[in-house]
Amino acid sequence: MSVKGNDKKLAAEAATDYVKDGMTVGLGSGSTAEWMLKRLGALVKDGLNIKGIPTSVKTESLARKHGIPLTDFSKTATVDLAIDGADEIDGQLNLLKGGGGSLVREKIIDAAAEKLIIIADQSKMVQQLGSFPLPIEVVPFGWEMTKKQIAAYGAEPKLRKEENRVFVSDNGNYILDCSFGKMVNPESLHDTLKSMAGVVETGLFIGMTDQAMIGQNGKVEMIGD
Ligand code: 5RP
Repeated sequence: MSVKGNDKKLAAEAATDYVKDGMTVGLGSGSTAEWMLKRLGALVKDGLNIKGIPTSVKTESLARKHGIPLTDFSKTATVDLAIDGADEIDGQLNLLKGGGGSLVREKIIDAAAEKLIIIADQSKMVQQLGSFPLPIEVVPFGWEMTKKQIAAYGAEPKLRKEENRVFVSDNGNYILDCSFGKMVNPESLHDTLKSMAGVVETGLFIGMTDQAMIGQNGKVEMIGD
């Protein structure tokens, strides 16, 4: 395994120490979160009694594979803890997310959680968000107009494609990957984008994170309390 891969694994496993019996746990998406699912599956096999709420269809199927019992918001109103990955994390633990296209469900679950722990390797830590193109989920109808509006705000939106086909999110929407460059005020950028017709959600997760577990060279640093 690469050093980076091992750091993701260590960060993910460290976060599972916070999962306690009886909890409802938000299950993040992405390659780092996959390590968390694997570990939680092993803990469940050893008797840990939890329910997971998956942030994507892929995470749902992985959670099932690892034997993690699942629930949803029709059955529970509480998420005790969410553990999720990120594409960028700044010094205030603001996040840029959605590289895997799961930002809407991630935001609903992460926002509902009593506590949000972000798991990542050190390469995700940045001074300012914005080197990674910001994923914005948009309604397919009139996406070209939504793209124009976003472009007028100073970005270069690109319609996400996968294997030459338009990428469709778990919610049936499109994703525009928008290069804004370094963001001076991500919160106001998010507010502006969110107010545009056709925009479902942005990948900016501001003021939501309680703790980050950052793997670096075989060790895990915990940021936040
Ligand atoms: C998916 C996400 C992921 O959490 C993010 O892309 C991090 O992925 P990885 O752990 O594979 O680097 O936001 O929408």
